[in-house]
Amino acid sequence: MNIILIGFMGSGKTSTGRILAKQLGYKFLDTDQIIEQKNGMTCAKIFAQRGEEFFRKQETTALKELHGLDGAVIATGGGIVLSADNRSLLHNLGAIVYLKTEPAEILKRVENDTTRPLLPQGNKLAEIQKMLDVRQPLYLAAAQCIIATQTGQPEKAAAEICKIL
Ligand code: S3P
Repeated sequence: MNIILIGFMGSGKTSTGRILAKQLGYKFLDTDQIIEQKNGMTCAKIFAQRGEEFFRKQETTALKELHGLDGAVIATGGGIVLSADNRSLLHNLGAIVYLKTEPAEILKRVENDTTRPLLPQGNKLAEIQKMLDVRQPLYLAAAQCIIATQTGQPEKAAAEICKIL
């Protein structure tokens, strides 16, 4: 089986995923990384040059290419659930875990980040809340389990996932 981590930017998908994969002896994969390698540029550059729609399609292609995979922990981009195609591909790929972090904590973690093109400008907390209002119902509907990553301890989150799955 595979374990798929979903959640907002800064929720700890990559850090938790790496630890979890190590503990389980699974491979660790990250859809953002797959897309960056394939396109030979960073996610930020892909967004700037090709736009969000193109990026979502790249996510779809990456998920299709992972079909048949077994024994991997897969971290995903925070917006992967926005596409219905992506949601159904994720569903068929493995057990989905939502890493849930509150907006104020997300803001603390991503405030000085310049690598994430969709991070809102201006009144960031309100903007993050607005994005989360759209995404959270999708995360919740897609996930088989929810892990709170509010305290920012990826080892703890990984241990909890191991216990539950
Ligand atoms: C995005 C999140 C990013 C990356 C891209 C878009 C989003 O991944 O996929 O910049 O739409 O929230 P992380 O969640 O790993 O930051």
